[in-house]
Amino acid sequence: MSVSQAEQDTVAFTVEDGIAWVKFNRPEKRNCMSPQLNRQMMRVLDELEYRDDVGVLVLSGEGTAWSAGMDLKEYFRENEAKGLGAMRQAQRESYGWWRRLRWYQKPTIAMVNGWCFGGGYGPLFGCDLAFAAEEAQFGLSEINWGILPGGGATKIAVELMSFRNAMYHSMMGENVDGKKAAEWGLVNEAVPLANLKERVTEVANVLLQKNPVALKATKDAIRRVGEMTYENAEDYLVRAQEAANSFDNEGRKEGIKQFIDDKTYKPGLGAYDK
Ligand code: ACO
Repeated sequence: MSVSQAEQDTVAFTVEDGIAWVKFNRPEKRNCMSPQLNRQMMRVLDELEYRDDVGVLVLSGEGTAWSAGMDLKEYFRENEAKGLGAMRQAQRESYGWWRRLRWYQKPTIAMVNGWCFGGGYGPLFGCDLAFAAEEAQFGLSEINWGILPGGGATKIAVELMSFRNAMYHSMMGENVDGKKAAEWGLVNEAVPLANLKERVTEVANVLLQKNPVALKATKDAIRRVGEMTYENAEDYLVRAQEAANSFDNEGRKEGIKQFIDDKTYKPGLGAYDK
């Protein structure tokens, strides 16, 4: 089935020097997530995931928003009017690409340039790292229009924030700026909007220097071990490394050689030369 141009235009991307810059692209609607956008985002993630020229994916928003959450008209009102089947399909489409991001082959960075509300916390958490503009505004605004933070947002609040902050943030419907979001653990760091892209590029370039097999194993491990006992985590990590070895037989050996034999770098101070 051919996809309409309007649907394709809901997401924009370019690939430059190993970095895929993907954008929510409905600036006139503050990049809120419609069913069309959710479907297109999955297609774009599909297209980029295994490309050799993509080492890191950055997700940002066109215009003044990162994402104003779910589209209250197209995602909620119109689908609710169609019935349960339509609602469930819309949920599968949005939760689907957020899940895809959580387990993406390449490292991912949320570059939060502006508004980030409600459902936006799904892709925010889906990205491995997150950098915000100090001027950005974050809100679990669900309570302001009469629902609980669904679509995983409550779980994300508890994963990322302290109990007290998660409770306050969810119940009060007040926004926090990028600085407070960093303090609360919603993002790694906040910098002035004017410096955001530069800082994210710097971080992406560091990631591009690392062993990609080890990066994928590491990001998956961080997401998985939280719910394991120590014993299970220890065992999982042994097996995860052994599985990674079968994909990358030479990388870590080269890393050891450059340190122990060639003495060309120190792993404590940087990455080996790929
Ligand atoms: N759903 C549907 N339409 C939206 C959404 C949304 N989440 N956010 C913005 N829009 C639309 C507006 O209706 C408006 O449409 P129009 O031009 O056809 O009138 C357009 O985008 C521009 O929005 P404004 O409100 O005019 O933009 P402004 O810059 O003044 O405000 C703000 C931005 C604060 C983000 C505001 O749009 C807003 O509060 N949006 C809703 C945020 C929200 O609570 N999202 C839901 C979270 S809960 C969830 O996701 C489950």
